[in-house]
Amino acid sequence: MLTVDEAFKKFKSRLEISTNEQQAASRRQRKLREQLDDRLDIAHDFLTGAYARDTKTKPLRDVDVFVELGPNELKYRDAHPADILNRVRAVLVPHYGDDRVRTDRRCVRVDYGLVLVDDASDDVMSCDVVPAFAKGDAYEIPDDVLGEWITTDPRVHAERATAANKALSGRWKPLVKMAKKWNQHNGEPIEPSFLIEVLALRLVDGPWGGSYPYELRQLFASAADRLADGWADPAGLGPAVSDSLDEDPHKMQVARDALTAAEAACTEALRLDRSGRTGDALSEWQRLFGPTFSKS
Ligand SMILES: Nc1ncnc2c1ncn2[C@@H]1O[C@H](COP(=O)(O)OP(=O)(O)OP(=O)(O)O)[C@@H](O)[C@H]1O
Ligand SMILES: [Mg+2]
Repeated sequence: MLTVDEAFKKFKSRLEISTNEQQAASRRQRKLREQLDDRLDIAHDFLTGAYARDTKTKPLRDVDVFVELGPNELKYRDAHPADILNRVRAVLVPHYGDDRVRTDRRCVRVDYGLVLVDDASDDVMSCDVVPAFAKGDAYEIPDDVLGEWITTDPRVHAERATAANKALSGRWKPLVKMAKKWNQHNGEPIEPSFLIEVLALRLVDGPWGGSYPYELRQLFASAADRLADGWADPAGLGPAVSDSLDEDPHKMQVARDALTAAEAACTEALRLDRSGRTGDALSEWQRLFGPTFSKS
């Protein structure tokens, strides 16, 4: 059996993206580009989002591939966002099958239909294809819920994450990945999970509390406290990242309750460890994160 400290070291390393996963992400990206190139004018494509910033939890789901459209597709910019999403879907369906390609709020999701054993994988489970138009240094992307194109600047998000990570001596990104793992294992009460990163930008600002267990408890506690404050796009361009929770009191309540329960579980796990019951403490942590958190 591991100590709690050792178990967190192992957990942290299990959330790191492997060479195989990097190769899989690049392979999936190249394939999507090839398939889309046949039917759409594409200027450029790149891996982005949490994957590119190294704030993505594992297994890798919904890896974002931005596909910058060229001048021949400008007509879509004047149309409802659903049009381009449906178009991208229609191009991809023949390659992956009708039930593996679906449109979401801002992307077309391709599910590779892989089966997980013990929540572990060395591959990319799904990709989110995000059609985009360049707008200066930023991009405009479709938002089917708002029914309009929104502006996003992945570079600013990346810079903010890098700065936060540096300020916490490299521990901010692992902490975000752990908190996202909790969210994933608990039915995604925090939606979108990008909101966890946005919360952590403001709520985890050092000094380092001494360990991942303490910092996680602190993050869950302050997030529960501040969740309803409204959370803007850190780049100040897009809609509030918290908009879907802000507009649904029930979802907001569920999210806050989940954070409060997570804080209580951290407190209990810390107490168990302090009283020498390491095995019980490890079980408590594993209940929070699922099998990716190993006790041995
Ligand atoms: N409200 C928003 N305004 C502007 N840009 C946004 C907004 N929401 C998301 N983005 C950008 O789009 C990217 C992809 O969004 P997504 O919801 O996939 O989040 P993510 O950061 O990739 O997190 P994860 O995939 O772990 O859920 C984000 O990383 C961010 O750069
Ligand atoms: Mg994403």
